[in-house]
Amino acid sequence: VIRTRLTELLGIAHPVVSAPTTAAGGRQAAAVTAAGGLGLVGGSYGDAAFIAAQVPLAAAGGGVWGVGCVMFTFDQRPGLWEQVLDFTPPVLALSFGDEEQTRRYVGRARQVTDQVVVQVHDPEQALVALRAGATVLVAQGAEAGGHHKVRGTLPLIPAVVDVVAGAVPVVAAGGIADGRGLAAALALGADGVMLGTRFVATEESVASPGFKRTLLEVTAADTADTRVFDVVRGIDWNPAYRGRAVANEFHRTWNGREDDLRHRRTEVEARWLEAVERDDVDQRAMFAGEVVDLVRDIRSAGDVVTDLVTEAEDVLGRLTAGVRDLEVTGR
Ligand SMILES: Cc1cc2nc3c(=O)[nH]c(=O)nc-3n(C[C@H](O)[C@H](O)[C@H](O)COP(=O)(O)O)c2cc1C
Repeated sequence: VIRTRLTELLGIAHPVVSAPTTAAGGRQAAAVTAAGGLGLVGGSYGDAAFIAAQVPLAAAGGGVWGVGCVMFTFDQRPGLWEQVLDFTPPVLALSFGDEEQTRRYVGRARQVTDQVVVQVHDPEQALVALRAGATVLVAQGAEAGGHHKVRGTLPLIPAVVDVVAGAVPVVAAGGIADGRGLAAALALGADGVMLGTRFVATEESVASPGFKRTLLEVTAADTADTRVFDVVRGIDWNPAYRGRAVANEFHRTWNGREDDLRHRRTEVEARWLEAVERDDVDQRAMFAGEVVDLVRDIRSAGDVVTDLVTEAEDVLGRLTAGVRDLEVTGR
């Protein structure tokens, strides 16, 4: 058992959070929560039908679960905020807002729920989220699958831990997929981990069969930071962020030609949506992080949580024993 300030604050058994990715449906969130972690549904860009179908599946499982939303979409989709809050999730996770949006939405969230998790990408954003009232911070490094800024996880975590100075638990994200990653995150001062890519390759994830299969085949060298999938979907991302995805044929065709893609979007999008419908992995967006190297099986989400903790306990035990041996040898 690994107890941290995160497990104490949330009342969960394990310091493991499943990220609110576009593949994180309600069954996955419920499975992670049932296994003792914090399961989040990916509210992502605010697809009302997805939220209506998936959030009840997480809520039905009870326990400590939540919904994660991309803050800038609240400004674009009237009714989204109310739709999410109608489910009274015990945890609300917010990501990708500018300073003003972070202040506004974290402040509003605190009025209706006790636990507001905010994903940040540098120490400056951590302070903004903290002052806005975040109760947990996720520090996400650029190794991550999906959208991220530029800071690498290894130096980012202790830097955020230092500026937060114990005010709230810090969760490490970006580049973690197994117990070694959990042990390392704890060593850096984090109170837990959030995994995105690893949970996409689970039985419960709502990722397409082609996407899951591809994750087992590719390595980090097959991923790239790109904007092409944002452009084709018409999502107006802040240029400070890029999305790490599998660099497939669609990426190769349009990378570096984003303006051309913007001009021809209507025509390209129609074909692209048909390809997505067919689960064509040469065309569809498959966001994935550097940890695809470590993703070599489709497992149940509950097993991912359990195995992660067991492996981390083993790693920590061996490291501690190693330090003791060193002491003995040194004497
Ligand atoms: C397929 C995929 C979709 C994602 N979609 C979102 C999203 O909609 N909202 C969000 O806050 N983060 C999203 N993320 C990022 C995750 O929240 C998390 O920060 C990241 O996956 C952690 O890095 P890892 O992939 O190395 O575990 C996504 C990640 C992946 C892999």
